[in-house]
Amino acid sequence: MTGTPSPGPAHLILIGLPGAGKSTHGRRAAKQLDRPFIDLDKRIATTHGRSVANIFAEDGEAAFRALEREATASLALEPPSIVAPGGGWMLSPENVALVKPSSTIVWLLVSPAAAVSRMGARIGLRPLLRSGNPLRTLEDLLAKRRQRYAEADAIVDTETLSWQGVVDAIAALAPPI
Ligand code: S3P
Repeated sequence: MTGTPSPGPAHLILIGLPGAGKSTHGRRAAKQLDRPFIDLDKRIATTHGRSVANIFAEDGEAAFRALEREATASLALEPPSIVAPGGGWMLSPENVALVKPSSTIVWLLVSPAAAVSRMGARIGLRPLLRSGNPLRTLEDLLAKRRQRYAEADAIVDTETLSWQGVVDAIAALAPPI
């Protein structure tokens, strides 16, 4: 057989700003659906034995993005899962190409102000937000990223729905397996 590539696994990928709740909601939706949950930043940290903050600080953002791409490629070997990558994942067309067309990408919408309040002290774990004014930084990130985030297949607004409502909406968007 030639020509037709075999379809990849049907993952559900959650994108959006830091503080959107990609990991928290993703983990719950995965439990509800009885599918595996993959936190891509954790996978990178485990594989390389270093935190994301450490990789940013010592090797820079470009090095982190290369590892992020490598971790995304590894998703091809996983059963259909709920995946939470970091907030900059969607900026790389290569990442998107690695999971398409089999996966569904869902944008978890959050305002910068709500994201700041949700992250609380955990904001200090985010290399892009740990210095300066986090609210301003998130506003800038959203302005720069909005167009890319909007290329998602679906949007779930995390501020108008209840906590469980967000989880249910994510679960309902998971591709059938
Ligand atoms: C980043 C978000 C972080 C992490 C890295 C870069 C970003 O993940 O991947 O610090 O570019 O928005 P969270 O979105 O989980 O904070």
